[in-house]
Amino acid sequence: MGRGSGFGKTILFGEHFVVHGVPGIASAVDSAADATVKKAQKGINVTDERSGATGYAEKKKLQQLESIERMLTTMGMNPKDVALDIWLGGNLPGFSGLGASAASSVAIARAIAAEFNLDLSDERINDIAYEAEKAYAGNPSGIDNTAATFGGLIWFKKNLAGGSNMIEQLSIREPVEIVICNTGIVANTKAMVAGVAERKKQNPTKYDAIFGQAEELAHKGRHAMKEFDLRQVGKLMDENHYLLQEIEVSCKELDYLVDLAREMGAFGAKMTGGGGGGCMLSLTPGKELQEAVAEAMENEGFKVLKTKMGIRKV
Ligand code: PMV
Repeated sequence: MGRGSGFGKTILFGEHFVVHGVPGIASAVDSAADATVKKAQKGINVTDERSGATGYAEKKKLQQLESIERMLTTMGMNPKDVALDIWLGGNLPGFSGLGASAASSVAIARAIAAEFNLDLSDERINDIAYEAEKAYAGNPSGIDNTAATFGGLIWFKKNLAGGSNMIEQLSIREPVEIVICNTGIVANTKAMVAGVAERKKQNPTKYDAIFGQAEELAHKGRHAMKEFDLRQVGKLMDENHYLLQEIEVSCKELDYLVDLAREMGAFGAKMTGGGGGGCMLSLTPGKELQEAVAEAMENEGFKVLKTKMGIRKV
């Protein structure tokens, strides 16, 4: 039996914009998807035991199967000739916006490699997971699978010409508490990404200006993290949320959670990931603030993940 894991992630700056070549910053969280793979008699059978949003596994089932077929093809196998029993679990909740699909793709790719005795580098696993992500995201930037494969805090810039993407590990003085809160709405990342591309085509002037601001924000965010100026990081996250509202990927539930986090004293808050549901991310340095923000959300019936950004080795 082969085993593998992939990190969950949260995007601090630049979701959606990264698809179009703007740099972004993602951080792995200290939760991961785990997979086991065993050669079987017939078909590809997935047992998905990840905890999280009700309906997540069912809604993503078809995309999940397509993603596994894509992985096998990229690994040089014919999906029709391969029979596998795949189990998925781990402590990464199946919330939309936590890179759950990428984390599971990395976990499964590693487990398949182990089951077939393939010695694959992290770079190769990342490429395979990128192909798998296309089933979930249509035209993914690659930021999710990169964070899921390598972990840490990552500066990412997609190479739109098709060559290697820019991937840089960033460091921060110490990990910082964050609260991620699930709206409970399972989002369709593929549709959200396609919607942005369509609106960008319809309104090039408006969108070019917003994309320029997003690029500036990513650079400022990187600088503020290097300086460990957390007030500034929070302020920039707020600005990033505003840009995401402008490109119409937020929703009233996300805006509500963002406002609640800020009211409770979070240094900054934004949606994270594909939007249209999925998760809100807030910067809550210190255990006390983290607890206060998380509790306010839990009291309203939302599910939260209390974790840290900038953990080097998760
Ligand atoms: O919702 P998630 O966790 O799959 O994140 C999607 C991030 C996007 O920037 C919207 C898409 C991408 O491929 O980068």
